[in-house]
Amino acid sequence: MLRASLLLALLGLCSLAAAQQTYSSVQPSNYTLTLSFTLDGVTTTPAPCTQFDPSTSTCLPQGSVPDGDSITIAYSGPATPGNTVSLMFCYSNTSSVNRAWRKYNAVISEDKKCNVAKPFKTGLPTGEGSFKWTPGPNSAPSTYQIQLLEVVAGSDPTTYAASGKSEGYYQIIPIDSRPTWLMALVGVFCTVGPITLAGFFTYEKIYKKD
Ligand SMILES: *[C@@H]1O[C@H](CO)[C@@H](O)[C@H](O)[C@H]1NC(C)=O
Ligand SMILES: *[C@@H]1O[C@H](CO)[C@@H](O)[C@H](O)[C@H]1NC(C)=O
Repeated sequence: MLRASLLLALLGLCSLAAAQQTYSSVQPSNYTLTLSFTLDGVTTTPAPCTQFDPSTSTCLPQGSVPDGDSITIAYSGPATPGNTVSLMFCYSNTSSVNRAWRKYNAVISEDKKCNVAKPFKTGLPTGEGSFKWTPGPNSAPSTYQIQLLEVVAGSDPTTYAASGKSEGYYQIIPIDSRPTWLMALVGVFCTVGPITLAGFFTYEKIYKKD
């Protein structure tokens, strides 16, 4: 009886320890990530943009979600057969400050600055590889980095054996950075639409009343 509960307590401690794995356990990083961008159909591999002010930066690659722009992540690190790598985005310091829901946590599984809970790709082979990612419609207009985590085969809770992060950042631009003439046109329709409807209902009420 006593032994069983002791065992259970120890098991509990084990899973607690695993759940609390911190980034320091996968440092220094042994994966390097290189980002290429396909923007408006043109693919480039620019020098990493590390210093930026989103309002004035000239080096920050800007991706538009409606345009279907994509990012190709090439990664390189030590191959460990059986293990896999996952890729996720991370918000930059500027895009996570004062936002509790994007808060950094040294405990990997608790980190919200990097979207550890929902990698956009899992199950890639360790070693060398690449993945082309097209950010989805729910991507917030923010500045980002890409993070790689190597997942230990069969680990539950998930444990990590290695990490890597893109040196450079990129930006997802909001829909309102579309051409101004287009937004003006949409604005006109949005203003005229309700007026037309209101007019129609008034007309109906006055003239079509039985
Ligand atoms: C990758 O890095 C981690 C942390 O530095 C280290 O423990 C691990 O052994 C490295 N993996 C390989 C295959 O070198
Ligand atoms: C982001 O903030 C962290 C913690 O304050 C700091 O260690 C890191 O150097 C910052 N990164 C950049 C690129 O400024």
